[in-house]
Amino acid sequence: MHQIKLAENIYFLGFNDRRTALFENIWPIPDGISYNSYLIVDEKIALIDTMERQYIEDFLARIEEIIGLRPIDYLIINHMEPDHSGSMKAIVNRYPNVTLVGNKKTFGIAENLGYNPDKVVEVHDNSRLDLGVVKLQFQTIPMVHWPETMVTYDETNRIIFSGDAFGSYGTLDGGVFDDEINLDFYEVDVMRYFTNIVGKYCAHTQRAIKKLVPLDIKMIAATHGPIWRTNLEWVLSRYNRWSSYEKEQGCIIVYGSMYGNTQKMAEVIARQLSERGIRNIRVYDSSKTHPSYIINDIFRYKGLIIGSCAYNNALFPNVETLLSTIEHMAIKNNYFAIFGNFLWNGGGVSNLKKFAEQMNWETVYEPVEEKGSLKPEKFRMCVDLANAMADKLLSMDDAKTSSAPV
Ligand code: FEO
Repeated sequence: MHQIKLAENIYFLGFNDRRTALFENIWPIPDGISYNSYLIVDEKIALIDTMERQYIEDFLARIEEIIGLRPIDYLIINHMEPDHSGSMKAIVNRYPNVTLVGNKKTFGIAENLGYNPDKVVEVHDNSRLDLGVVKLQFQTIPMVHWPETMVTYDETNRIIFSGDAFGSYGTLDGGVFDDEINLDFYEVDVMRYFTNIVGKYCAHTQRAIKKLVPLDIKMIAATHGPIWRTNLEWVLSRYNRWSSYEKEQGCIIVYGSMYGNTQKMAEVIARQLSERGIRNIRVYDSSKTHPSYIINDIFRYKGLIIGSCAYNNALFPNVETLLSTIEHMAIKNNYFAIFGNFLWNGGGVSNLKKFAEQMNWETVYEPVEEKGSLKPEKFRMCVDLANAMADKLLSMDDAKTSSAPV
């Protein structure tokens, strides 16, 4: 097995998951995902985070390849979610004298997961751990994205082991470091990982960035995806922008439609936006596209237009699922508009209005609701709705938004 090193005696231990279809059993990962753990071999040996438990045999074997019969002295737990703590018990069984390093919240979660380790060290902000040559320090980053999340900073090599922060979906297909891969392949996966997993906690992410940026960071080693050593600015600037709800000029139109009448309204709106010069337009059928991708584009683009037919006097169920995901994620800072259709009773538009009120989102135009086939009056209103959205989008500061990368 090739040994991949971040620095002298700091090893990458990563496993590619190409089989799981849904991360956290919710989010599609067609490109898979990697689980990254790191081993520091010094006078003392420290393992930073563990692994999904399905990889435990290979994980233990790879550790032994590196350290032979030496014991692991410390297991540092940056994050207790089972994709990283799943092999914790197995590590303690194999290395019974290992000391677990976590913060005040870490061991409470471990206990809730049915585990009460004996040998623990509780750390807090600026706590230090001396491994010999390598000196570590710890910084908590609560709610990025669990309460116990923290980072471990190697002061000697200036590497930050960042847990899920700055992670990505997507397996590591040969390349492990950012300068060994085509970042274009990871662009959407990095963003989708942020928006799906961390995006609910933007304010916490902003606080974490402010806390970590003053550290002298040469490398960011996350628990998923590439290790950042050349393009730190690439990922840091994106995290900063996304967690500030800074959005590009563009518009998402999402609709739920059984027989195509609501879809026709979406097409009219999309065409008019295009006529007005909006270039980033994405139309999504809520029955075809998973909310993971739609949420991602709502984080990316400023305009959001949602349409729903009525379904049993209520919203179209897939639109309802999307709305509940948006609400759960507490997404902010979009221009919003709504439309819909019904034949024998309403339920689509009326509930979209309630959603807008609940979210405290201002709509850019009055709701457009048609009965069945699209007739001239509502056609014109769809055009006007698109014009109102285009006016808002075109008034954005182009220099700041339209040319911004993902
Ligand atoms: Fe990758 Fe939050 O666990």
